[in-house]
Amino acid sequence: MNTVKTVRELRAAVARARGEGKRIGFVPTMGNLHSGHVALITKATQRVDFVVASIFVNPLQFGAGEDLDKYPRTLAADQEKLLQAGCHLLFAPSVEEMYPEGTAGQTRVSVPQLSEGLCGASRPGHFEGVATVVSKLFNMVQPDLAIFGQKDFQQLAVIKSLVHDLNMPIQIIGEPTVRAADGLALSSRNGFLSEEQRAVAPIVYRTLSSIAEAIKQGDRDFPALISAQIQQLEAAGLRPDYLEIRHGQTLRPATAQDRDLVILVAAFLGTTRLIDNLHLNLDATA
Ligand code: PAF
Repeated sequence: MNTVKTVRELRAAVARARGEGKRIGFVPTMGNLHSGHVALITKATQRVDFVVASIFVNPLQFGAGEDLDKYPRTLAADQEKLLQAGCHLLFAPSVEEMYPEGTAGQTRVSVPQLSEGLCGASRPGHFEGVATVVSKLFNMVQPDLAIFGQKDFQQLAVIKSLVHDLNMPIQIIGEPTVRAADGLALSSRNGFLSEEQRAVAPIVYRTLSSIAEAIKQGDRDFPALISAQIQQLEAAGLRPDYLEIRHGQTLRPATAQDRDLVILVAAFLGTTRLIDNLHLNLDATA
């Protein structure tokens, strides 16, 4: 596996692979890779001939006071994992390479509506930062397909929408969340949890599962379900940012008649913000 740091080298390597008739798959990441990322690479190796990963901690998607500076940077370990997973090319640019003129005047891509609410409400500008960097990366790599984790459900919806709206010829694939044995969704931010916090953290997924179970049993009083589970999270020492039931495709607030639902949660455990979701299609599970 080759690691390149400039757009020029990236384009040259991708052009070589294209010249050999290879289909290109792309897995954008911010590094500090775990089994969830490895699953995305593995999936890509099954779908295409040439897999490109990127590692870039994108300043544009972090708000003031967020964890940009302490976000873990573990390039050597990440390279080893990518190599083992069968990745062919890693693009690991500097901030200057991605934003040579700085970020202030950078053209932005924004996806209204889908970016509002949920994580967009508590992280203003976050999805604009994601949509902008993903658009830039897509234009740099020009892959046939790109793979993202479903853990960031709203992010995946935003990316599908931008690709559709901007007519980018890229297939977007969402891969199921990889979980620890106790249900906690794997995340680079889990490393910030103390041992005690890590022991409490699985309540986040248990909360989603309890709501899903109640809905499957016919409970449609969503506000009551939510407020009971918020109390449980608070009692366990978490500070819920949101816990919501939305429509699984459009992300608009769910109605009691909806069959395609997603339950989404973000909650602080100490200073670490955990997110998770559970997609529940009542027609598929009926
Ligand atoms: O999900 C992530 O790791 C990031 O938001 C992404 C998609 C790589 C954009 O920086």
